[in-house]
Amino acid sequence: MQKIIDITKLSKSYDDKEVVLKDISLSVKKKENILIMGRSGAGKTTLFKVIGCLEKPSKGKVKVLGKDVTKLTMDEMSQLRLTEIGFIFQDFNLLPHLTAYENMELVMNLAGKNETNNRIMKLLKDMGIQKKKNSLPSEMSGGEVRRLTIARALANNPKVVLADEPTSNLDEKNSKNIMKLLLSLNKKYNTSIITISHDPLVKKYFRKKYELRDGKLKKVR
Ligand SMILES: Nc1ncnc2c1ncn2[C@@H]1O[C@H](COP(=O)(O)OP(=O)(O)O)[C@@H](O)[C@H]1O
Ligand SMILES: [Mg+2]
Repeated sequence: MQKIIDITKLSKSYDDKEVVLKDISLSVKKKENILIMGRSGAGKTTLFKVIGCLEKPSKGKVKVLGKDVTKLTMDEMSQLRLTEIGFIFQDFNLLPHLTAYENMELVMNLAGKNETNNRIMKLLKDMGIQKKKNSLPSEMSGGEVRRLTIARALANNPKVVLADEPTSNLDEKNSKNIMKLLLSLNKKYNTSIITISHDPLVKKYFRKKYELRDGKLKKVR
């Protein structure tokens, strides 16, 4: 089966200081969902960024959809991010002065797509926020904003979606809804989902789980 992500002996440090990720190997197959847990400061977001081609590894090999990230130029990395990877950022990364609809449109236009209306409306509807299409993020609830970021992550039909702390700042009911929604996506949209979280409530939704601790990644049951 095709490997979406294939990481061997990855190490990462920022500015030659402390090593944040040590000798990590991980592979994710097509349509596979995995969870990466770990305490605050364990390096979860760093791993998210390396997998998402936002940071290059210091050592080791990171292949995303068969492409060796270390060999890509900045332009090639950004192209890969736009077309093949969907991001659900912990801090949302929505543009505050654009509506829900316009935030979706923006990432599609950046990827070179002009026929965007049907896709945007379908995704907003699937996420149950079609009524919010003309709202600014500041006019939406926490759960709605989160669903908008999921819709945006799927806009360009990515092979893999990366979710960094998708339940942070949500109450238990909303957290449940978001996790169910997120995991229904891999069937519906044929995507792998890599979720990064320190929320214990998230654990039960995954069969394949890993923990980051002291820079090392270990499989857990
Ligand atoms: N851009 C950066 N520059 C320097 N150090 C960083 C940077 N990002 C994260 N770090 C450091 O890397 C470590 C892991 O951080 P992070 O990956 O954000 O962990 P987590 O998401 O698990 O809380 C921390 O010690 C943090 O201070
Ligand atoms: Mg983090």
